[in-house]
Parts: sequence; structure tokens; C-alpha cells
Amino acid sequence: MLEYLKLDNVGPAPRMEITPSPRLNLLTGDNGLGKSFLLDTAWWVLTGHWPRDVNSGMTTGFPARPVDPGKTATISSRIRGKTKSYERKATYSRSGEAWVKKRARPGMPGLVVYAHANGSFSVWDPARNYWRDQENGEEERLSAYVFSEAEVWDGLWQESNGRSVPVCNGLLLHWAHWIDANNDNARAMATALSALSPNKESEVIRPGPLLRLTIRDGRDIPSIETSYAGVVPILHASAGIRRVCALAYILTWAWSEHRIAAERRGDEIASQIIMLFDEVESHLHPRWQRTILGALRDLGDTLFGGVDIQLLASTHSPLVMASAEPWFDPDKDAWFDLDLEGNPPEAKLRPRPYTLHGTVGSWLTSKAFDLATDRSSVQAENAILRARKILRESNPSLDDVMDTHRELRAALPDVDAFWVRWNAFVESRGGTP
Ligand SMILES: Nc1ncnc2c1ncn2[C@@H]1O[C@H](COP(=O)(O)OP(=O)(O)OP(=O)(O)O)[C@@H](O)[C@H]1O
Ligand SMILES: [Mg+2]
Repeated sequence: MLEYLKLDNVGPAPRMEITPSPRLNLLTGDNGLGKSFLLDTAWWVLTGHWPRDVNSGMTTGFPARPVDPGKTATISSRIRGKTKSYERKATYSRSGEAWVKKRARPGMPGLVVYAHANGSFSVWDPARNYWRDQENGEEERLSAYVFSEAEVWDGLWQESNGRSVPVCNGLLLHWAHWIDANNDNARAMATALSALSPNKESEVIRPGPLLRLTIRDGRDIPSIETSYAGVVPILHASAGIRRVCALAYILTWAWSEHRIAAERRGDEIASQIIMLFDEVESHLHPRWQRTILGALRDLGDTLFGGVDIQLLASTHSPLVMASAEPWFDPDKDAWFDLDLEGNPPEAKLRPRPYTLHGTVGSWLTSKAFDLATDRSSVQAENAILRARKILRESNPSLDDVMDTHRELRAALPDVDAFWVRWNAFVESRGGTP
């Protein structure tokens, strides 16, 4: 479990510090303030490698650079291992353009799965990936599994000892093979898809039969059954379905391979999984945005037979934020928000108290999203802000009042709650609403 992460003079802010909770950690903040960067850095402290260094096909996950190259830059972390916590501090070497730290295996005893915002995935497995401990003569293993979006589907090859070796068959081949063999992985994949479905009763993603797309394409392609379009080959499925299928696949593959490797090595099976999830709502319909967090929270039980999952998830969605209201537990869960503060403005990461808001609109005007009103259009918001200003004036002119009234009329529906107060005000100023 990641217990602590502190960045000094690194990335988009002079300083960032986070003490994650053991279960759910929500991360909000405007575009460009550093949510993905923070997840990249969390991945690095947990696994010892930047995603882009492992796979040059990645368009994200680059090594962190200092804000001010002339000053010391450090990344400090604390990771809870099986029996104790490991503190680490890395310092940036300006001349070497690299992070220097004590050479040691990552302390993380469980799997780390990173769902990047662009559909790529990274997996680190304590039984399959680690740094070579030359003194003990250990064989060199891959540093991590970093899949571009295409590699999730078509398979991953990696350089090892100067050779390119196949390390994962990819969703299309693996899933087809699992279905053909009717094996445990086929069942795990179906379980994961059902658990991650928008609605476990009425909108379940069900695996369908294997299909051929064309005569020329010799592959048996997995499919899903839909209530609206019959059987859909997975390559034709919608972006939301494919994102969730890719996640279900990566989890099923990572867990199954971990168990095989742990058994070969005589290791215990991991008792924790850390999941880093960037933009957890991507491609999902609002109904689905309301269920995804709860489904991820429960995966430790539904898919992994009782493993603790620590989730760090970034979001731009008020529905995702609102969806944790019924079960958010401050002892297990936390919310962190990035905001611009001060002059000149600097990105600041702060823990925020998670309280019940009840409506999405109320989340929009909360510290998570900082909107001035919960109205849908910018025009409606501007009209309301102008009207509120007039309401505060001691003696506004009737022209101004009626100008604003017309602006409100053009932008607000008749049912908007603001009318009650505004119409009374217009009448009090001698106007006709
Ligand atoms: N490898 C890096 N080293 C140093 N700074 C970085 C690095 N990668 C990103 N940044 C900084 O972080 C900023 C963007 O951060 P990031 O991509 O994490 O934003 P975000 O909060 O995820 O935004 P969005 O919501 O648009 O995805 C960049 O503008 C840049 O200043
Ligand atoms: Mg981002």
C-alpha cells in the first residue's frame, strides 16, 4: 500500500504531498494541474520504472523532471510492505538526467495496475518483475509490463537481454483461447465483466461466441452479447465497452500470471493490489459513471478472492464523486484536490473533507470542480452572476435590471429556482417580469 508520497521541486507544482488512505483515493483538479503526473509518480515509486522508459511506444508516463533544474529535486515515499513500511527518497541528478536512489527492490509486495487515461495499461507483478540482484545471482526479469492501447489487444513484445520476446498474447488471442478452453480465466473474465457492468441486473456485459470478422481474417474474435444489437464482435464494440473489456482482461491476465509465477517461485500469492486509474469515467455513460467506483472497490472480493485493493483514481466527473456518497468511509477513503492558489498561481494538492452533496449540481460548485453556479451553460451562469451583482447594488437602474432580465430569459428555463427571487426583485424595481 502506498502510505505517503512527496514531491519537492518536481512536476507542475513546487511541492506536492499526499497521504493516501487504504481503500479509495479520489483525485480531482482542473486540466493540467498534475493528476496524471501524480499517478505516474506513484507508479514509479511503487515499481521503480517510468512507463515511457519501459515502452517507448507510450505517449504518456514520461520520467519526472524538476521544476527548477538549479535546485534540489526529490521524490520521497513510504510503501507498506508485508510486515513493515519502506521509506525511500530519490534525488534528481542534473548531470545524469536521472533519479538517483538506493538500489533496492521495490518494497511493494502486491500487484500494481495502472489504467492510463488513453487506454494503455501498465502492470507490475512482484513475482514476475523486479530488479536484478546481481550479488545473489538472480536472473534478470522484465522491469514491468507496459502496454500501449494497441498492445493490450494485439499482444506485447519486450526487449530482454537484447532480444525481442513475446510477453503477453493480448486480449484478442488470450480471451479467444480461454473461451475455447472453457477455463478458469474465461470464467474470471466473465465475472469481471459482470462486476464492472453498468447494472448487474439489467445491463450486464456478457461474453458471446467466437466470431470471424471476414474470410481474410483468420482469427476467432471474442464477442459480447448486447440487448440492443445482438452479438457484437469485440473489435466493433463501443469505446466504453472496450475500455472495460481491456480492464477486465488486464486484471484477469495479471492475476492468473501472478499466481502461476508465485507458485513456480514458491512465493505467497499477493495479498494487495494497488490500482491507479486515470480518468475513471472515460467513455462511460452517466449511469455507468455512478457504478464504476463501487465495482472497482469490490473487485478484491469479486475477482481476486479477498485481496485488499488500494485505488487511486482521478476524475473530472461529478457523478463519480457523488457515487461514493452512500459508502465513503473517512477511515478507509480520502479525497484530494488540486487547485491553483496564490499569486503567482501555484498548483496545490490538498486533502478535502468528503461530505454528502446529494446532487450533481452541488458537486459542480464544490471544491472538486469550483464552478460558480450549477447551471448548464456559460450563458446561464453569466446571466445569474450579473443578476446576483445587481441584487447586491443599492440602487440599480431599471434599464440595467431589464437588460439582465432579458439575458436571464434567454438562458434560464422557466422552472429555474432563481426566478422566484428575481421576479419579485424586478417588480420591486417597477419592472414587469
Ligand atoms: N514528466 C514530467 N515532468 C515534469 N513535469 C511534468 C511531467 N509530465 C507532466 N508534467 C507537468 O504536469 C502538467 C500536466 O499535468 P497532468 O498531465 O498530470 O495534468 P492533469 O491534471 O492530469 O490534467 P488533465 O485533467 O488534462 O489530464 C504539465 O503541464 C507539466 O507542467
Ligand atoms: Mg490527466
